[in-house]
Amino acid sequence: MGISFIIFSRRLVRFMNHHVTDSESDWFVYEQKTLDKKIKAVLKDQVEKYGSYSYFYGHPYQSLGILGVYGERSTEERFECYELRDIIKHDDRLLDIGCNCGFMAVYTAFRTGCRANGIDINPYMTRIGELCADYLRLSDRVNLEAIKIHDFKPDEIYTVVFSFATHWTDDENYRVPLREHFERLAGYLDNGGLLVFESHANDVGDEEFYATIDSIGDIFSLQSKKDTDQATRHLYLFRKV
Ligand SMILES: C[S@@+](CC[C@H](N)C(=O)[O-])C[C@H]1O[C@@H](n2cnc3c(N)ncnc32)[C@H](O)[C@@H]1O
Repeated sequence: MGISFIIFSRRLVRFMNHHVTDSESDWFVYEQKTLDKKIKAVLKDQVEKYGSYSYFYGHPYQSLGILGVYGERSTEERFECYELRDIIKHDDRLLDIGCNCGFMAVYTAFRTGCRANGIDINPYMTRIGELCADYLRLSDRVNLEAIKIHDFKPDEIYTVVFSFATHWTDDENYRVPLREHFERLAGYLDNGGLLVFESHANDVGDEEFYATIDSIGDIFSLQSKKDTDQATRHLYLFRKV
């Protein structure tokens, strides 16, 4: 009886307020449930069909708080911590490699107005990113592609590349010498372009990792370095020389 009364009152309020809502301007509220359902369906498909290792128990590696998408690492927190609002300009062309859902690219495009592409081997993650980019009305500026890094042949040169926790991967789908990874990234970038590079936690304290970073001065000049994630990772900003 009580529950029926609550349901009835909510419906009544919704009905009475119908004239002040507008399907054009209030899409952000109306479409959220549909987005949730679509994302759940993609995750279910991943569990059933994806043959490779899935991060974070089959959830996205990244979360996107503004759309209520649950994941292991907060996109908004990383955006603030990496100071991307100051680094990325609205006329930048950004490439995010091993982008997972591409949320770092999507959210950076959303906040700065730049154009952004992302690639990842996992088609379920890029599909979720596409759904969110559509939802945020970013489809004309954001493009996500399910492809292996090795197979990716960019048809444009970028002004910024993100390489976040992707220079080797836990799923073992990408394992190359670190120098080779930096050379590949340099190939995507315009001269003077920026590389924003995030280490893994396992790299911290690893002498071989630091020796490679110190030896890439012929391709990248180091602009800044900071510790992130309570000093469990490093974030580097390089400029292509
Ligand atoms: C640790 S996650 C990092 C995701 C994202 N860069 C971030 O920091 O939020 C590594 C990502 O690399 C992707 N990946 C693994 N091997 C790949 C390959 N050969 N080509 C493209 N993506 C790959 C995985 O699917 C996963 O999304």
